[in-house]
Amino acid sequence: MKKAKKILKRIGLGLGTGLLLIGGFCAYVALTPPRSYDPPVTPDIHVDITEARIQRGEAIAHLQCLTCHADNHNRLTGKRLDDIPAMFGKVYSRNITQDKEKGIGNWTDGQLIYFLRTGLRPDGTTVFMPQYGLMADEDIKSVIAWLRSDRFPVQPSQTEAPPSEYSFVAKMLSWTIMKPGTYPEQPIPLPDSTNTVAMGRYLSTAVADCYGCHSADYLDLDGKNPERTKGYFGGGSKFADESGKPILSANITFDETTGIGKKYTKEQFIRTIKTGVRPDGSVLHYPMMPRPSMTDAEVAAIYEYLKTVPRLNNNIAQKQTDSELAEK
Ligand code: HEC
Ligand code: HEC
Repeated sequence: MKKAKKILKRIGLGLGTGLLLIGGFCAYVALTPPRSYDPPVTPDIHVDITEARIQRGEAIAHLQCLTCHADNHNRLTGKRLDDIPAMFGKVYSRNITQDKEKGIGNWTDGQLIYFLRTGLRPDGTTVFMPQYGLMADEDIKSVIAWLRSDRFPVQPSQTEAPPSEYSFVAKMLSWTIMKPGTYPEQPIPLPDSTNTVAMGRYLSTAVADCYGCHSADYLDLDGKNPERTKGYFGGGSKFADESGKPILSANITFDETTGIGKKYTKEQFIRTIKTGVRPDGSVLHYPMMPRPSMTDAEVAAIYEYLKTVPRLNNNIAQKQTDSELAEK
């Protein structure tokens, strides 16, 4: 009897200490900024600025950086990202113009490349931003060349968005699933430009980030092996549309009943992606933006690649109705 009591007391003590520790950790997470790391050793790279690189960088920026960093005047001064769910707090992107004080004018090419690959700033702090771990070295260099160019959006500006206010949930994520990427040890070459499927895979995963939104959950991606991501291209990831209503990404595998197998010819697919309007005239909702900066050949390559992706039966229309009902 006595022994049992003793054991129970011990368990009680153990539980109490455990709860205290967990409680203490939660308080710590709540009261401090998101997790940070040791300042990284950044590579010593100098990017040569050529007109070809600037143009390529600009095209990539239209698919990526401008969407999140451009203000109403099309300058990269940063802004509130409204479509990030409120449970993560208030997230603002930053000024990434060439301004030396408010922008990134003082970052080295190596620091920028390291940041884009891993999400780690030179001081070891992290950001809630996509990581470009799969982008070819040449394309990353093109982005840097564009950031250093004389183009309007990147010209120095002192305007600044307020700092992000991350919620407890967001901070907890920084301690759990949202880890910085690892800096690639090997060079990452561009895919063979004569291999349409390889090009489509590259564009839809590494550059235009279609897979990031069109898989089951944009918070749970396999950044190293996109194909291993849950629900790869089967859609269902939840966003907010222009009016703040929940919207699920579409199933764009070639499944014939719930995907796009019978919905789009290649020509229709190209037109839809570039204009944001479906063949039946309906307009695609935010955050599915038109992509006029992509070439027909690039969108066609994505179409050819999607044909090769395992088909998933996932009825998004049904799930969309369910999630709207749940909101009410
Ligand atoms: C999905 C939105 C999104 C996209 C796309 C995006 N960013 Fe960001 N970026 C952010 C957010 C949000 C932050 C800052 C978050 C914070 O302060 O915690 C940020 C921060 C940064 C920073 C750090 C700036 C600083 O002063 O600390 C740099 C540099 C940057 N982004 C460059 C880029 C470039 C270059 C691209 C395009 C290749 C890009 N970003 C694409 C959302 C985005
Ligand atoms: C920021 C997230 C996001 C990104 C990035 C994104 N999409 Fe979408 N996409 C969506 C959402 C959400 C919808 C649903 C829009 C709607 O229902 O109006 C959608 C719809 C579509 C549709 C319409 C499907 C149908 O059933 O009619 C196609 C096709 C599509 N996306 C292809 C792409 C391709 C190709 C890319 C990459 C170039 C891409 N998307 C990038 C979020 C995204």
